[in-house]
Amino acid sequence: MSELNLEVQIGSLKLKNPVMLASGTVGYGNEISKFVDLSEIGAIVTKSISLKPRIGNPPQRIVETASGMLNAIGLANVGLDVFIEEKIPYLQNVGTILICNIAAGSIEEYVECTKVLDSIDTVKAFEINVSCPNVKDGGLIFGNDINAVRTITEQVRKVTDKPLIIKLSPNVSKIADFANAAKKGGADAVSAINTLVGTAFDIYSRKPKIKNITGGLSGPAIKPVALAKVFEISKNVDIPIIGIGGISNWKDAIEFMIAGAAAFQLGTINFVNPMAGIEILDGIKKFCRENSINNISDLTASYNLK
Ligand SMILES: Cc1cc2nc3c(=O)[nH]c(=O)nc-3n(C[C@H](O)[C@H](O)[C@H](O)COP(=O)(O)O)c2cc1C
Repeated sequence: MSELNLEVQIGSLKLKNPVMLASGTVGYGNEISKFVDLSEIGAIVTKSISLKPRIGNPPQRIVETASGMLNAIGLANVGLDVFIEEKIPYLQNVGTILICNIAAGSIEEYVECTKVLDSIDTVKAFEINVSCPNVKDGGLIFGNDINAVRTITEQVRKVTDKPLIIKLSPNVSKIADFANAAKKGGADAVSAINTLVGTAFDIYSRKPKIKNITGGLSGPAIKPVALAKVFEISKNVDIPIIGIGGISNWKDAIEFMIAGAAAFQLGTINFVNPMAGIEILDGIKKFCRENSINNISDLTASYNLK
């Protein structure tokens, strides 16, 4: 039996396997590393970093729904300086590819953050978050504007040669147009999707369950939407896609690859089962062996529409 090749190529970024941990769901890696050997994971994406620290939105910031969660964290993060001083030294030794996710309230802030982090060896790639639904400055204002997505990509591209991933919002009518804007701006890949705007009310107090009123819906509920978005991009734009949205087990992950994803990220499932990344990798290996698949990347966009 020939050896199973788990490597995937995402633009200029090579990963030892397609399992990535999504931004905002594993902090800066140190908490989840108590449960899982991160060196077995393809890549870890850090919580969105902004130039200055952000305290985020006031609580209540997280609410459970029937098949997922609503969050309005508002990009709370330690800011660039503390990230470099306190988080990078730990992340240096985790034995997996480190991708920095960047959020910003202006194009200049995206550029400045990328420029500073570009000089750090441990940072192997960037994921630019133009799609956070929970902040007033930046976030979806950029993610909903094709020209802004293209301009941010172009400007960030000018200050780094490292792989550049643009994280797209599902809260748009044609996501392929946004993927195309990212491609034209010089992105290596797109990741899809960020959370969907949702809300929840308490029927007794009649108040929103989240202080911000709306939050981002994630988890199993959004999987079919995410798959449709990945497929739409795959059919229309020639750019590597990282699939995200409601992946809970190895079958979900394979479905994303078949729909067009070169790799995938695990988000909400990390809160339910921090071991999910390893379990999903094991499941995929078994599936590939049982189905005579020698290169995992052969699964990408292998849909059968006949
Ligand atoms: C609590 C929480 C915090 C998140 N924070 C970020 C963030 O800082 N930056 C970002 O790009 N995405 C963030 N996300 C979105 C996830 O990375 C992912 O795109 C989304 O949750 C969909 O995947 P899932 O259904 O597997 O969770 C966050 C999601 C959750 C649930």
